[in-house]
Amino acid sequence: MELMRIPVTVVILAAGLGTRMKSRQAKVLHRAGGKALVEHVVDTALQVAPAERIFVVVGHQGEDVRKAVATPGIGFIEQKEQKGTGHAVSIGRAALAGLGGYLLVLYGDSPLLKAETLERLIEAESAGDAACVLLTATMEDPTGYGRVIRDARGAVAAIVEQKAGSAEQLAIREANMGIYCFRADLFWKHVDELSTNNPAGEYYLTDMAGILTRAGHRVEAMRIGDAREALGINTRIELADADRLMRDAKRRELMLSGVTIENPETVTIDAGVRVGMDTVIGPFAQILGKTTIGENCRVGACAIVQDAEVGDQVEIGPFTMVNRSVVERGAVVGPFARLRMENRVGEGAHVGNFVELKKTELCAGAKANHLAYLGDARIGARANVGAGTITCNYDGFDKHRTTIGEGAFIGSNSTLVAPVEIGDGAYTAAGSVITEPVPADALAVGRGRQVVKEDWARKRRELRKRGAAVLT
Ligand code: UD1
Ligand code: MG
Repeated sequence: MELMRIPVTVVILAAGLGTRMKSRQAKVLHRAGGKALVEHVVDTALQVAPAERIFVVVGHQGEDVRKAVATPGIGFIEQKEQKGTGHAVSIGRAALAGLGGYLLVLYGDSPLLKAETLERLIEAESAGDAACVLLTATMEDPTGYGRVIRDARGAVAAIVEQKAGSAEQLAIREANMGIYCFRADLFWKHVDELSTNNPAGEYYLTDMAGILTRAGHRVEAMRIGDAREALGINTRIELADADRLMRDAKRRELMLSGVTIENPETVTIDAGVRVGMDTVIGPFAQILGKTTIGENCRVGACAIVQDAEVGDQVEIGPFTMVNRSVVERGAVVGPFARLRMENRVGEGAHVGNFVELKKTELCAGAKANHLAYLGDARIGARANVGAGTITCNYDGFDKHRTTIGEGAFIGSNSTLVAPVEIGDGAYTAAGSVITEPVPADALAVGRGRQVVKEDWARKRRELRKRGAAVLT
């Protein structure tokens, strides 16, 4: 008979401001690896428990923290006053105590934690009779972390916080990582024994180790080899450390899956990004959000690609920005192009330097190679948009559309005053201001006619030489 797994309830503490960050923004909302710290912890928790058994304790900027944790089903507990990590868990009694099983407590400021480690912690708890198993690591410099005091048998006798420790205790290098798996019944039985009798005047969750031990229960420590995994972010320096570790992990994952990254330490790629085989990413590129990039692409140096869908064999030139847009197979975008939002660049289409697109569709094979603004427009297949073309899409009140037909030829420096439609195969003459529809296959000329004044320049020079009035 298969044994039923004992249910696990996860509580994530995320109510503190995080004074050491020196920020007006709540600590758990600061971002590393492209996500808020608390999102990382919630995503990890979701790998060991269903959303209905995950609770986030919120306080400072609670509304924003709730928004950052977008997964439906997750519960929130409000801690109005932040009286310490022990208080943060204890106020959840009404929602949590009835759930039984194990109580897994995580801190919202430990974003690097892996689900496998949590699984191992839960296994360690269920394997023995301990009231609690907590995660520890031996650190080079454990300053700021709680120190683990072991008894003669190797069990945890107590955890001593930095502010409360004696010199002898602070010399201990085994640190509390702030991740605990409690037996829920024993936790709720003893949680009221926490007190504020410490230099910080807070309810320390870490005091539960001593409380449970004194009540005759066993508290065990599970030591992890690499303390970096449980790095608690308290300062901006640790935030940068976490970000660096996550970025490095993502680049390694992509390189091992067949992506070339040049000067990898300069490249920023968010965790949710997917990149196909044989794509080459240049130095200082940033690939962010929910971007997917196909196979055999090239992302040039310093390009920034965010929430984009990029097909195979696409070339994104250096210094190009692609935001919330689709770029189809074989297209070439940039260098120095800007796809501002909601664009679609069709198969084999070209967008060249200093071309800005906004809410524009460039159909297959169409080209806008130099210096143009195309907004709220649809450009038909194989159309050619000359250098300096501008869609005048805004009249000061509303936005209007420009439609350019298949195979149309838009002369350089055309000014297309929207709403306006240019038919299939039509031409506009260079320098035209187009205010009226252009039928298919027609030529529209909308500019002053050239006047040539024979000999004008020579006469002017002669008049000047004689000191006479010059021609105008
Ligand atoms: C805590 C541990 C310490 C451990 C370290 C690991 C305690 C008393 N100390 O210290 O032993 O080595 O984490 O990173 O637990 N929070 C609330 N409500 C509160 C107070 C805090 O929700 O009233 C939240 C914070 O938002 C934060 C987390 O709890 O996400 C941890 O608090 P923090 O102040 O960072 O604790 P540390 O000093 O790092
Ligand atoms: Mg901390």
